[in-house]
Amino acid sequence: MLTDRMTADVLDSASHLQIIANLAVGYDNFDVDTASKKGIMLTNTPDVLTEATAELTWALMLALARQIVPSHQAILANQWKAWSPDSFLATQLTGKTLGIAGLGRIGTAVARRAPAFGMSVVAWQRQDSDGSSPDGILRLNLQEFLQRSDVISLHLPLTTATRAVVNRTWFQNMKPTAFLINTARGGLIDESALKEALDRGYLKGAALDVLNEEPQGASHPLVSHPLVLATPHIGSATSETRRAMALRAATNIVAALNDETPPDLLNAAFLPKA
Ligand code: DGY
Repeated sequence: MLTDRMTADVLDSASHLQIIANLAVGYDNFDVDTASKKGIMLTNTPDVLTEATAELTWALMLALARQIVPSHQAILANQWKAWSPDSFLATQLTGKTLGIAGLGRIGTAVARRAPAFGMSVVAWQRQDSDGSSPDGILRLNLQEFLQRSDVISLHLPLTTATRAVVNRTWFQNMKPTAFLINTARGGLIDESALKEALDRGYLKGAALDVLNEEPQGASHPLVSHPLVLATPHIGSATSETRRAMALRAATNIVAALNDETPPDLLNAAFLPKA
């Protein structure tokens, strides 16, 4: 599971281990170097969760912009007294700019849905953020990306280079009306900087499906923040997708135990030659 930390200590105590098949596409829970030095195969479950995670990203974006959860809570609290021209006013997405940080499989699937909602898309990646638009999506440098985006959605892998990449500089450069969505990994965001930015009005709200330490409850300062919509790491949580992920992980394990190359082998380049 993505919740199991495959550290050097764990790997050192598993002398017969041949393969670790993550039930997730992200594999920041693996010590890739140690596993590779020990000749342990690592696999993940790409592709099969792309669409489910893109759907959740849009669900969070729409819910956040249109204040679905606070509106529902207002009804439950008997605060809906009458229709009025200025009650429950939210933000329209049509005509706005969606900023995608990380145009991999999931980021691209999120971007693909944007025209249906009348949004234009810009992107930032750590490479090629140079004003080019090979696929019609404009790559911007970080400053321009932050200044132009009305919604920023994170789709970067968590690595040592991307840990806490979303920091004070981001919040100081974002539009105060912008929303931040994270369906990738909690560790991408400096959470205390996000809390401070929300308190100071540097952005309008955040939807967080993932947190740096999971699970969390109401005592977490971001989970309980009035400008945050939090969900319990459910990006891939559809029955169709979880089944496909399980089959993919099983296929990788069966291949490895049959001395074949698992289809989703991550560390082929680092494994010692047989
Ligand atoms: C992943 O696959 O990395 C998700 O976080 C869990 O589905």
